[in-house]
Amino acid sequence: MARVYLENITRRYSTVAAIEDITFEVPEGQFWVLVGPSGCGKSTILRTIAGLDTATSGNLYIGDRLVNQVPARERDVAMVFQNYALYPHMTVAENLSFGLRMRGADAKTVKSRIETVAQSLNIAHLLDRKPRQLSGGQQQRVALGRAIARQPQAFLLDEPLSNLDAQLRDDTRAELKQLHQRLGVTTIYVTHDQVEAMTLADRIVVLNQGRIQQIGDPQSIYAQPANQMVATFLGSPPMNILPATYNGNDFQINGHPIPCPTKLREALKPSLEQRFNLGIRPEHIQLASDTHPQHLTVEVAVVEPLGREILIRSVLLAESQGRISMVNVQVAPEVRVTVGDRLPLHLTLDRLVVFDPTTGSNLNSLQNI
Ligand SMILES: Nc1ncnc2c1ncn2[C@@H]1O[C@H](COP(=O)(O)OP(=O)(O)OP(=O)(O)O)[C@@H](O)[C@H]1O
Ligand SMILES: [Mg+2]
Repeated sequence: MARVYLENITRRYSTVAAIEDITFEVPEGQFWVLVGPSGCGKSTILRTIAGLDTATSGNLYIGDRLVNQVPARERDVAMVFQNYALYPHMTVAENLSFGLRMRGADAKTVKSRIETVAQSLNIAHLLDRKPRQLSGGQQQRVALGRAIARQPQAFLLDEPLSNLDAQLRDDTRAELKQLHQRLGVTTIYVTHDQVEAMTLADRIVVLNQGRIQQIGDPQSIYAQPANQMVATFLGSPPMNILPATYNGNDFQINGHPIPCPTKLREALKPSLEQRFNLGIRPEHIQLASDTHPQHLTVEVAVVEPLGREILIRSVLLAESQGRISMVNVQVAPEVRVTVGDRLPLHLTLDRLVVFDPTTGSNLNSLQNI
């Protein structure tokens, strides 16, 4: 296995950049996840690393070797595609061993490698079947197995779970994580599923419109997103974004005063009447009580019982005619709420994130507080 290092990689199609100035280094053995909305350039990055696409500019290293000019088959990386094509006329065993045989491995090595991989992916009982005799989930595992059997320098996985149903997706995700813990192969994994990104990654790279928005471990990206795009992309339901004004002491959200925590106040150092977008995650909002003073009043629009908690989608009530904001709140499953109820809400103020409404940048993290 080896590190994978992208240095200022740009890929243009005619004049449009699919990815622009991408720089990151995945250390040997780590599991990194590229995440972002459709069309943001995830597959282009993987294809460039695999050598299936050529960067317009920039350098790519696998280990210490500059591989810009190295053809795909000599890069020793294994890619599993979004639509994991298996060879339909080959059995599972032949599919699994294909890459090894192409590289001239001897029969004994092939056999033992296939047996180990098949066992670890729970497909040992399927070795004699053809792909059409397998379920989607089984085919997916064969595609992963084919990559693993080669023992490459790095795995490049492009949405490998996207064709599975929810249950199988959860199971296979956990299997993948275990597999990585056991094999420790450098892995770059593409998904637009933020749960996969959060649960699998050592580091997440968030992309939007071909550019890196933020690189970090899942917890810090979740707690301190670099900008509003990251804040609303990671987390389900997403972070609430509430337009607010600020007078140097308090924020005002649609006429509701929200005290500004001291450390934020020091960081913001405002002139008069600034506008910000305040971010707060649903789990940092609770029903106001004797011990938790009320900050906002909302009207319940939709109630979604999720078992472990209830998700309430509500509308912020304005004292003056202002923009209507939606607020997502998570409450305990025993709370009784119905559509139309008015709820007093308390915000955990030290979890507020302040965004510049023009650029979307997180102003807390820029000030390093
Ligand atoms: N061969 C091509 N010619 C022109 N534009 C392309 C080509 N391949 C990709 N693009 C463009 O590059 C951008 C990035 O595409 P890419 O496939 O990397 O996105 P993605 O993040 O993998 O999206 P998805 O989640 O839908 O798979 C898109 O805007 C796409 O239209
Ligand atoms: Mg893609």
